[in-house]
Amino acid sequence: MENNNNKITMEKIVSLARRRGYIFPSSEIYGGLSSCWDYGPLGVEIKRNVKNAWWQAMIHNRDDMVGLDTSIIMHPKVWEASGHVSGFSDPMVDCMDCKQRFRADHLTTENCPNCGGKLTQPRQFNLMFKTFIGPVEDQASIAYLRPETAQGIFVNFANVLNTTRKKLPFGIGQIGKSFRNEITTGNFIFRSREFEQMEIEFFVKPGEDETWFKYWLEERLNWFSSIGIKKENLKLRQHRKDELAHYAKDCYDIEYLFPMGWSELEGIANRADFDLKQHAHHSGNDLTFFDEQAKEHIVPFVIEPSSGVDRTVLAVLCDAYCEEPDKDEIRTVLKLHPSIAPYKVAVLPLSRKEPVVNVAHEVHSVLRKSFPTAYDDAQSIGRRYRRQDEIGTPYCVTIDFDTLEDNSVTVRDRDSMRQLRMPIDVLCQSIAAKLSGELFEVLPPGGKHWLGF
Ligand code: GAP
Repeated sequence: MENNNNKITMEKIVSLARRRGYIFPSSEIYGGLSSCWDYGPLGVEIKRNVKNAWWQAMIHNRDDMVGLDTSIIMHPKVWEASGHVSGFSDPMVDCMDCKQRFRADHLTTENCPNCGGKLTQPRQFNLMFKTFIGPVEDQASIAYLRPETAQGIFVNFANVLNTTRKKLPFGIGQIGKSFRNEITTGNFIFRSREFEQMEIEFFVKPGEDETWFKYWLEERLNWFSSIGIKKENLKLRQHRKDELAHYAKDCYDIEYLFPMGWSELEGIANRADFDLKQHAHHSGNDLTFFDEQAKEHIVPFVIEPSSGVDRTVLAVLCDAYCEEPDKDEIRTVLKLHPSIAPYKVAVLPLSRKEPVVNVAHEVHSVLRKSFPTAYDDAQSIGRRYRRQDEIGTPYCVTIDFDTLEDNSVTVRDRDSMRQLRMPIDVLCQSIAAKLSGELFEVLPPGGKHWLGF
């Protein structure tokens, strides 16, 4: 993938994420656990910011959406009704020589056995993680960790309808962990066995589904742009008939140009009335909507935009990663959208001694009331700028000896590296305006623009 004339590789992203405390291998002191990852001090912030941006745009900013948070372990009959017990599987082959296991449909593209061994015939391998409820491990106590959050929404359809009095069209959104015993994992956090999803089930009148399907394709593409992902790195790909999941009438993937090539970031499916009908049939409950105008009960159709939190974090990191020449060096900078950056601003005192450090602490305590704010007094100012650039902090505020005289600080912009001196009493307001993209200007007595970055 070309970005600012530099080749971005997954190794570079993994290395930065590790080095700066975004993402660590899980259980690292025991040698790590294949395809499991831990989000570090910055990772947890970026992940939260992604989820909050989604929740804000998809739930809070809309009248036709509500949220849910359902349990990971559900009644086993849910997965019989949904088709996951019988159909949620991938074809798997074993190499008879090296005994490694591969996904038959990924063999040519992802990893061919290099020992040259003979392969077994493909067998279907169910991807759900099985566990047992209670102390007895028998057939009657089998339960599954959910492989998608979607079913928690479908089984609560009547509860939400009865408690919120929503009318069609309306949607239910959920963010939560899902688990799949994937045969082949890899590409960092792109495909793992434990991951988080952000899913919407949007219920519409049958016949209006295709219009709403188109609406959601556009809406979701726009959301990815709104968190800073470049339009040219996103595209839609329609599923072929033979690719469609057992429940889908139609499906598109939103693909992102990851370092390993165009790959799925989100799936948007028209699930028709498959799920509500299945659950009504298996549970014996009425899962219809009463249409007051037509005076009839209908089973709504469902449009499902289903996104991965971890894949979105990976896309955000890849998209923001830049290497730029700076004097005789290469500067690595994460040009994160301000809403997604873990810290919005960093306070950097030029001295660790009083009275400079006192002013720095005061500035820090004022700023952190409004934005997540870093404080860094270790090493040279050049190195501290580099560190904040790699972390993706949009603004650095430097407190120096002149601050003691003129009550002003230097603000440095991450992307342009331009610096501007401004009085402390307009600092918070100016940074807030810059972060929200407002055209806000505070003019000093001389008429110069403080926000002339
Ligand atoms: N309810 C529909 C559903 O789960 P999916 O296409 O299987 O559809 C939706 O998954 C999204 O969840 C994917 O687009 C991806 O972002 C994320 N996802 C799925 N499997 C994943 C895995 N093994 N690791 C990380 N993310 C995954």
